[in-house]
Formats: sequence, C-alpha cells, structure tokens
Amino acid sequence: MNNTAPDLISERVLVLDFGSQYAQLIARRVREQNVYCEIVRHDISAETVKSRAPMAIIFSGGPSSVYEANAPKCDPKIFDLGIPILGICYGMQLLSQSLGGKVTSCSQREFGRSRLQVKSMERLFAGFPHEIDVWMSHGDQVNDLSESFDILASTPTCPFAAVRHKTKPIYGLQFHPEVSHTSLGSSLLHNFLYNIASCEGKWHLSDFANRATEHIRGIVGNDRVICGLSGGVDSSVTAALLYKAIGSQLTCILIDNGLLRKDEQSAVISEFTNHFKADLRVVDASDRFLNELAGIKEPQEKRRRIGYSFIDCFKLEAVKINGAKFLAQGTLYPDVIESGAAPDGPAATIKLHHNVGGLPEQLGFELIEPLRDLFKDEVRKLGLELGLPEHLVWRHPFPGPGLAVRCLGEITKEKLTILREADDIVVSEIKNAGLYRQTSQAFAVLLESQSVGVMGDARTYERAVAVRCVNTDDFMTADWSHLPYDLLARISTRIINEVRGVNRVCYDISSKPPATIEWE
Ligand code: XMP
Repeated sequence: MNNTAPDLISERVLVLDFGSQYAQLIARRVREQNVYCEIVRHDISAETVKSRAPMAIIFSGGPSSVYEANAPKCDPKIFDLGIPILGICYGMQLLSQSLGGKVTSCSQREFGRSRLQVKSMERLFAGFPHEIDVWMSHGDQVNDLSESFDILASTPTCPFAAVRHKTKPIYGLQFHPEVSHTSLGSSLLHNFLYNIASCEGKWHLSDFANRATEHIRGIVGNDRVICGLSGGVDSSVTAALLYKAIGSQLTCILIDNGLLRKDEQSAVISEFTNHFKADLRVVDASDRFLNELAGIKEPQEKRRRIGYSFIDCFKLEAVKINGAKFLAQGTLYPDVIESGAAPDGPAATIKLHHNVGGLPEQLGFELIEPLRDLFKDEVRKLGLELGLPEHLVWRHPFPGPGLAVRCLGEITKEKLTILREADDIVVSEIKNAGLYRQTSQAFAVLLESQSVGVMGDARTYERAVAVRCVNTDDFMTADWSHLPYDLLARISTRIINEVRGVNRVCYDISSKPPATIEWE
C-alpha cells in the first residue's frame, strides 16, 4: 500500500534533490509548517511535476558546481510552470545561472555563521528585522546577477544572498534556512510557503491518522493483517494505526528471535496488553534463529539469515491464523528514500534497508506500510495522537536484526547473555541520570577481542564492551553524546563488576559520518 495516494494529501511541496545532505531536513522543516513535502530526483520532468500539482518547488543544495560539465541540472521547463520555486545554495546558483546569471568560485569559501542584511521586508522577509544570523556553506556563488532578478538581502561577502525574479515567483537563497543555526529560518520557509506559494497548512497528523485508517480499511476489506511487533516505536505506531482501522482483523506477532534486549519480551507483552485489545501471538523462535546464525561472522550474511527467518516465522503464523493476506511493516520515509524506492526519489541508493529492499521476493504477503510517508518525529507525534504512552513513543530505536548487529563476530548464547546484561546497565544508568530523552540512542556492543586484565590478584583474559551513545535528529548524521564522566565511570564500574566475562569498557567517541551508529 502506498499512502501517497492523492486522496491523502491535498497540498504538497516537492524538494528537488541535487545531492544535498540537507534534503531530508528541508522536507521536515516544510512539514513542520503543516505542508506535506516529498523529495524527488533533480531531473524529474516538468510534466511529472505538473501532474503532481505541487504548491511549490524547492531546489536543494548540493556538492557540485553548476559550471561543471556533469553538474546536476533540472528540466528548464520547470521555470515556466508558474509554480513558486525556492532555490537554496546550489539550487539558487542553478536557477540564477539558468535564468541568465553567472556563478563562479568564491575567492574565499564560506562555512558557518554570517550576518544577513535584509533590504526588502516584503513577502519572503515579511516581519523580519534588518539583520539576522544565517548559516552559509558554499565555495561558489552568483557573482553576476541577471537583470531579471532583484536583490532582497546581502552579507558582507555575498552581495546576492537572497534574490527574487522580477516577473516569476522564483526566489533564491545562498544560505541555508533549513538549519537551526539560521535564526528565523523557519519563519522564512513559512513566508515562502504561505505568502508566496499560498499554502494553507493542510498537513495535520490527526487528519493523516483519520484518512490513513480509511485508506487501510478500503485496501484490507475483510481480509486479515499480521503485524510484526518489536516493541519499538515504529512497529507500535503501525499496530496502533492498524488496530484503529481494522480492529479484530489485526493479529500482532512478536517473534522472540533470541536477539532481544533484557526482559524485552515481557515488556512488550505488558505494554501491548495495556494499550490494545488486539490479538497478540508470541512466538519463541530463538533456537531457530540462533541455529541459523551459528558460526556466521559476516554481518551482511547475519542480516540476510535473520531477514529470511523472520519471514518464514511470519508465514508459519499466518497459516495458523487461517491465512493473512497482508503483512504490515513500520517502514518510514527516510528508509524509502535511502533505499531508492521512492517514486521519482533521489538517484543514489544510500543503503538497502532491510524493511524495504531486503525482503525475499516471494514474500507471499501484500505489504502494508502506513508510515512510509512519515519522518520519525512525525511517527512519534502520531503515536501520541493514537494514545500510546510517552515512554513508549520516546523509546530509543532498536534495529530489526536486534543484538545480532551489536554482538560482533560469531553469535552465541553466552555472548548474548553478556551483551544483554551490559546493555541493560548502560540504558538504566542513563535513565537514572535523567538523560534518556536527551540522548537519541544508547547501547552496549560486545567486541570480538579479548584483553588482559587483573581482578582480585588474578590475571584475567576477557572481553571488552564498547558503550555507544549518540545525539542526532535524523540518524543520518550523529554526534557522540558528551555524557558526564561520573556517569561513564558508573557504567564502566557496574559492567565490569556485575557482568561476568567483561574486564574492559570503552566509550565510542566517533561521529557519524565517518562511523555509523551501529557497529556490526
Ligand atoms: P547506522 O548504523 O546505519 O544506523 O548509522 C542508523 C539507525 O538505523 C538503525 N538501524 C536499523 N534499524 N533495521 C532497523 O530497523 C536495521 O537493519 C537497522 N540497521 C541500523 C540504527 O539502530 C540507528 O538507529
């Protein structure tokens, strides 16, 4: 099922992605203004754009230079559609060049804060002060503005920092309104969407929930749906939405694959039975999964075996409940874009997400993915709308393949027990310190290596645990959390004292990129 069906969205904005690391951020910022927004390829045709009837188009930034031979371009007919366009950074340079201006490399590349002087307080800058801080990140800039444009704002080094076409609804910004360092960046987007593109703000999650439930009912009819429940926010919200839509036609299945966190199975069961009346089946498949994984060290192979085992378990359960036609999954919009599965989505496939691209072809089910248009923060809001409790909605993400991605090398029951205990200490100490909501994800990783230590007066040769704790908005980039030393010390002491088989604890201080959040 694809909830991008036109009946669910009455007002949309398209972001043309020129390879920007901020394209998703732009889309989220637009949605924060209650306007639905999608990311599409930069070379989408003008006809396709027209058929999607967007209220506005935003050109993202990008790493290329518009004057290079293979620089990404847009269909020039887009400029004649009469649809308001906002070009950001590379997007601004592209539209300026396409409409008669000249772009060159700056004598000094500019990264970071800059002071913007606003010259025209109308429409785009309505209600703005004369000066604001903006965030710049560019090595090129427009150095010869076509006469068809007016200058709206400048910085000391960038005379054409904000421009407007004289006769078309086309605007360009050299700085980034989407990043939080640009003060009033969201007001600027608001002005573009409401003053220039005449949006009315029709994207509300409560409406989305109502329309999505009707849509689900229409698709499912009298059939049954099974929904894999992991206890994470995505699958819980998926289940809540489906339960609202089809009630007793939903069967939720919790597969204990032996790779869950400590006490996870009982926690999910009690959460679930407290909040839904839907049918819940708990399948203990831990032996099956651990047998499949025995002796396997290679991370991708582990993932593949876990993926197939999950589907096999679902199939067996579906037979037990007299057949289910649909399988519901909590796939989110970033998964769809990153896997290159979005219609007209960005060109590059960033990773094959297990939810989207990693399933066996002969699935045997039709997929229902009611959250595939939503970002994580929207899913959390939707969860609250649907009555899920705060602590569930704010749980840190836990990967589908579970502890398998955090237990490096071969997976054994003994190693999983060590990891579970260490992980429980990390999370509970962070909770006790009142820092769970301030951090985005925190967990332990069991390393393959062993090292010499001394405990009592005896030499030990035991395992090392890495503690990973990150802060991030979107899990695409992340910084390691600067946790207080005394908290780190408590975590380390407790793990070494309480978890048999560990004599060393390290704290992972790498950011993403270049590292990833999980280790594998
Ligand atoms: P990485 O390690 O790619 O992780 O920086 C980014 C976020 O994705 C989660 N993750 C997964 N989630 N299935 C999931 O449902 C997976 O296979 C998977 N792999 C990574 C990870 O925990 C982090 O939040």
